[in-house]
Amino acid sequence: MVQSIGLKKINTAVFISGTGSNLKSLIQFSKKKNSPISIELIISDNSKAKGLKYGKIFKISSKPFNYKNKLIVEKKIISEIKNKKIKLICLAGFMRILSKNFIKSFKGKILNIHPSLLPKYKGLQTHERVISNGEKYSGCTVHFVSPRLDSGKIILQKKVKISKNETNKSLKKKILIEEHKLYPKAISKIFNL
Ligand code: GAR
Repeated sequence: MVQSIGLKKINTAVFISGTGSNLKSLIQFSKKKNSPISIELIISDNSKAKGLKYGKIFKISSKPFNYKNKLIVEKKIISEIKNKKIKLICLAGFMRILSKNFIKSFKGKILNIHPSLLPKYKGLQTHERVISNGEKYSGCTVHFVSPRLDSGKIILQKKVKISKNETNKSLKKKILIEEHKLYPKAISKIFNL
């Protein structure tokens, strides 16, 4: 479990690859007085990630990396994390698989949000698979990151009902709304708030 020290907020890094709507909701959450986190670093696996704009808007140090060689990039990320004294990492739409060594060195301190009711629908193209399988429900999950993909201990889940004429797009939108509430709740939960 992650431990907070008194009232001091925990330095947190958010890793993104795309739009960054979860990043935005986490930043808004972090600004609340009773939030346990302070977002000090944004890491992206590409310089074109739309979510990087939130770094500029909220004046948070943002580092895009060219992900040609995972081990080299991870070394650079670790050095950024150390510089900023990061104690919690939130993956928010980060579409890279972190190395086992990286995960081990931040054991119990990396969280991820996944757009399905894990352990169902690990991996990619979640909504497409859920709809083509005719599922009645889907949802989202916040979990600790372990070396096995989308398999770490679950912190919180939210279920959503799939409508008759649901499309990938409508389901994605519906689940994202829940993700933006679930991630802050899950963070509060691990700090016993
Ligand atoms: C979110 O739906 C998140 O759950 C998903 O990517 C989206 C990112 O949206 N993550 C994964 O699929 C991880 N395997 P955002 O960039 O707007 O936060």
